[in-house]
Amino acid sequence: MEYIELGSSGLTVSRITFGSWAAGGWMWGGTEQNDAVGAIHASFDLGVTSIDTAPIYGQGLSEEIVGEAIKSLPRDQVQILTKFGMRWDLAKGTLSMKSRNNEGQDIDVYKYAGRESIIRECEDSLRRLGTDYIDLYQIHWPDVTTPIAETMEAVQRLIEQGKVRAAGVSNYSVAQMQEAEQVLNLASNQVPYSMVRRDIEKDVVPYCVEHGKAILAYSPLQLGLLTGKIRPGQPFDEGDLRATHPLFKPEFVTRVNRFLDKIRPMAESKSATLGQLVLRWTLAQPGISVALVGARNAEQAVQNARAIDLTLSPQEVDFITRELEEGLGA
Ligand SMILES: NC(=O)c1ccc[n+]([C@@H]2O[C@H](COP(=O)([O-])OP(=O)(O)OC[C@H]3O[C@@H](n4cnc5c(N)ncnc54)[C@H](OP(=O)(O)O)[C@@H]3O)[C@@H](O)[C@H]2O)c1
Repeated sequence: MEYIELGSSGLTVSRITFGSWAAGGWMWGGTEQNDAVGAIHASFDLGVTSIDTAPIYGQGLSEEIVGEAIKSLPRDQVQILTKFGMRWDLAKGTLSMKSRNNEGQDIDVYKYAGRESIIRECEDSLRRLGTDYIDLYQIHWPDVTTPIAETMEAVQRLIEQGKVRAAGVSNYSVAQMQEAEQVLNLASNQVPYSMVRRDIEKDVVPYCVEHGKAILAYSPLQLGLLTGKIRPGQPFDEGDLRATHPLFKPEFVTRVNRFLDKIRPMAESKSATLGQLVLRWTLAQPGISVALVGARNAEQAVQNARAIDLTLSPQEVDFITRELEEGLGA
C-alpha cells in the first residue's frame, strides 16, 4: 500500500481508502452486514488502514458497522474518517432530500452544521464507532444557513478536546475552503472525481495543489460503472440510486463500455481488472491524494486494494486519458 499525509495535518492515510456508504445500505438497496465487516477486514489485511463513513450512511448503521469491524483491529493503526452536517433526526438548515431509510420509512435529510448540532453529532459518532477519537472530521455538504466560521470553530474546539485529530471538508468550493481556513488548518477536501466526472480539475485541484491540501476523490469507480460490469438498461434493486442516476442511462453506459473496451487490452496485459486500471489512473492525476472506493464484500475490497500494485508509466496514463477524451469527451 502507499500512504500519504493529508495536507500538513500530521494525519497519514492509505491512498486506497475504504468507503462505507454502500455498507450502510441506504440508497444502495440494502446491505449484508457481515459482508461489510469482512470487506473492511480484508482491506486492512492488504494495508487499507483508512475507512471513510458518515452518520447519514444508513442513519448510523455504516458507523456501527465500522465500529464493529475496528473492534478487532489495533486502533492506532486505523484511521477513521467520518462526517457531520447531514441530519435526518433534526429539521434545521436546508432540506437536502426526501428519502427512505433501510426499513422503507420516509425520511427528510437536512444540511445543517450549527455549533450545538456538531458537538452532539460528534458524541453520537464516537458512541457508534466505539472509539474516543475521530481521525478526520469532515463537514459532509456546505450548510448555507450557518456561517462557515461558526462550523469551523466548533470543529476546532473538538480538536482541542482531543476528540478529533484533523479537520476536513467535503463538497466544498474553493471559496468555501478559503473561508474555513480563516479559522483552522484544513487537511483535505473530499469531492467527486472519476474518469467521467472531472470538473474539479479546473478549480479545486489547482487550489489544493498550490496550498498543499489533500483531495479525497470519492466514487472513483463511478458507483461501479467504471468496472465494466454494468450493462445498458441493467435493472437495480429497489432503493438503489443507480436505477435513476443520469450516468446509468443506457446510452451513456454503452459509450462508457466502448471506451473501456479500448483500455481493456492494457488491463489484460498487466493481469489487472478494468477497475484496478481505473483506480491507478485516478491516483496518477495531479493533486489526487486518495481514491475513496466503496466495496460490498471482501472480494471487491481485495481487488480494489490490489490496484495499488499496478504500475502505469506516464505514457500509459496519457494513452488512457487520450482514449477517454476521444471516446467520451470527458
Ligand atoms: N462526501 C460525499 O458526499 C460522498 C458521496 C459519495 C461517496 N462518498 C464516499 O466515497 C466512497 C466511495 O464512493 P461510492 O461507494 O459512491 O462509489 P464507488 O467507489 O465508485 O463504487 C462503489 C461500488 O461499486 C461496486 N464495486 C466496487 N468495487 C468493485 C469491484 N472490484 N468489482 C465490481 N464492482 C465493484 C460496488 O457496488 P455493487 O456491488 O452494488 O455494484 C460498490 O458499492 C463512499 O463509500 C463514501 O465513503 C462520499
